[in-house]
Formats: sequence, C-alpha cells, structure tokens
Amino acid sequence: MYSLHDYTWMITDDARTGAYQRALEAVVKPGSVVADIGAGTGIFALIACRLGARRVYAIDTNDAIEVGRELARENGMADRVLFFRRDVREVELPERADVIVSDLRGTLPLSGDHLAIIADVRARFLKPGGILIPSQDRLIAAVVEHADLYQWALGPACGPVGITLEAVRARLRHATSTDRGSTPLRAENVISSAMPWATLDYATIRSTPVAGRAELRITRAGIGHGLAIWFDAILAGEHGFTTAPGHELCYGRCFLPWLRPVELSEGDVVQVDLWAQPSGDPWGWNSVIAGAGGTREVFKQSSFLGFAGRLEPRASEGRDRPFSQAPQS
Ligand SMILES: C[S@@+](CC[C@H](N)C(=O)[O-])C[C@H]1O[C@@H](n2cnc3c(N)ncnc32)[C@H](O)[C@@H]1O
Repeated sequence: MYSLHDYTWMITDDARTGAYQRALEAVVKPGSVVADIGAGTGIFALIACRLGARRVYAIDTNDAIEVGRELARENGMADRVLFFRRDVREVELPERADVIVSDLRGTLPLSGDHLAIIADVRARFLKPGGILIPSQDRLIAAVVEHADLYQWALGPACGPVGITLEAVRARLRHATSTDRGSTPLRAENVISSAMPWATLDYATIRSTPVAGRAELRITRAGIGHGLAIWFDAILAGEHGFTTAPGHELCYGRCFLPWLRPVELSEGDVVQVDLWAQPSGDPWGWNSVIAGAGGTREVFKQSSFLGFAGRLEPRASEGRDRPFSQAPQS
C-alpha cells in the first residue's frame, strides 16, 4: 500500500514523471478522452487536463485518489476529471478513451496484476486505434560485480553468539531482491554487455509467463556476483526512460544472485535463460558461464526453490528493509 510520501516521491522523480509528461504532450490533443489507471494522486490525469483533454477518468483503490480530487479542485480542473476509488476491473466507463496512461510497475513491469490490468483496460476502455502509455517495456539483463549487494542479498553467515545462518543463505541464493536501499548498482558495477531478453508490448500483452535468453559478453575482468535486471520504457514515440544502473529512478533494479561469486575474464560469455510469472513471482534464471577453456559454471536457480522470492513493491516503505522477500502463506 503506497503512502502519500511514496506518491510524492514518484511525482518528483523527474526522469520518470518528466518522460510521462513529454509522452502525454505528444499524444493528448484538445478534446481527448484520457483514462489514468492506478492514478494515485492523479498526477497524469492532471497533466492530461492541462494539455486540453475534454474528460479524464482517474481510477485507483488507494485513498490518495481523494487527494487527487482536491488537487483537481485546487488546479481548477474539477469539472473535467472524474475520480473512481475502486479496483479498475470493477469500473465501467461511459465512453472509451483516446489515451490510457498508467504506471503499475513495481521494480520491474512484472509486478502484481499489472499485465492482466493492461489487457483488461485495453479491451474495455480503449478506442480502436487509441494509444497506450507506456507502449512497451524492454527487459534487460547484465552481469554485475557488487560484493556488498551480494552480501546484503544473502544475509550474514553468522548471527549473534556464533549462530550460523547457512540454511537461510541457501534459500536466499535462490531468491530475487532489489538494489534499493544502501546498495544501488552503478554503471561501473556492470561488467558485461547489457542485452534485452524480453519485450512487453502493451498493445498485445496478456497475463502470461515471460521468458527469454541473452548472451552476455564480459567487457572487463572482475568477480561476477549475479545478474541485474532492469527495463527500458518506451512511453510514446521517442519518449521514455531507462532504469539501467547509474540512473537513479524510483524503481531500482532486480538482482538475481549466483550460487557463488565467479571470477570472470574479459571475453568470457554468460548465456542466461530467464523466465518469470507475470506477477514477478516466481523467477527462474539459468546461467552457463564459459571462457577460453570451455564451460566453467552452470547455475540453475529459481525463486521457487528459495524463500518466496517476491520483489518488494516500489514503495519507500520497503527501502530500508534488509530483505525484500516475504514468507509465502
Ligand atoms: C506506481 S503507483 C502510480 C501512481 C501514479 N500513477 C503516479 O504515477 O504517481 C500504482 C498505483 O496503481 C494502483 N493500483 C494497483 N492496482 C490497481 C487496481 N487493480 N485498481 C486500481 N488501482 C490500482 C495503486 O494503488 C497505486 O496507486
């Protein structure tokens, strides 16, 4: 559940919100009908209104939608924005929209009911030939060197009074986590080529598992601790953003640890096969690491074998937690 601080944090993330603003400027015309799905405080709805939309529908389950109502009044737009405090799947609109805008991602676009909701609103709310923002997200993988993040993701080897914690660490080697908090990935932590392994095309997306393969070439010698996964968002036309290491947006990156750190040389090749449920839980990642002498390591990992490898929601409340996984009920 997002807090008002979380929404403020997202609104003031200029790399994200600025890109959405430019995408809306490119597609919203005077007289357009716009639907803002998962509107929060209605920031995209209000931008669309400013751009001349005739009618905007703003929908969210969170109390923040009431603040959105006040913001619409405060900004003289109350007559053009209709707010619904409800699950979007229970909402009927009186007309179809020219533009549907949303950001229902967590750390990655594979988050909760995101894909199912986009498929639903596309079918029920969008005019034929209407525009979805975002239009695509590309999932990218790379090998990273980051001893602190690896240590953080696996937790300590020892607890108080010499109690060992290997049973915890054995599971966390199969768990996804994020680099939010004190361990953000920087550009210099990436030691391989960064390759797309799946494209989410929202014009056709359905809520189905996502899978792909990438061949990652090591670009500098180092210790590989695992894989970073991020996304390049294409919002509309050329407008978008990346959450690649070095770009500090509100999303962070997903970190998939290897079973053990691996010494890598420039020119080594890591072939990764990745798959995930549309909700982002569970994940699987197989890595075949090969150098001049042939295959050196084969890791077969899945959060199914771990401890409910669920990515934390993209909310500030999770930022300081030591681990992002939650026990499965
Ligand atoms: C990442 S926030 C984005 C908020 C806002 N659009 C912004 O950019 O500041 C995603 C929002 O989607 C809402 N949401 C998620 N699932 C929903 C659903 N099924 N129906 C309505 N809102 C939903 C959440 O409550 C949350 O406010």
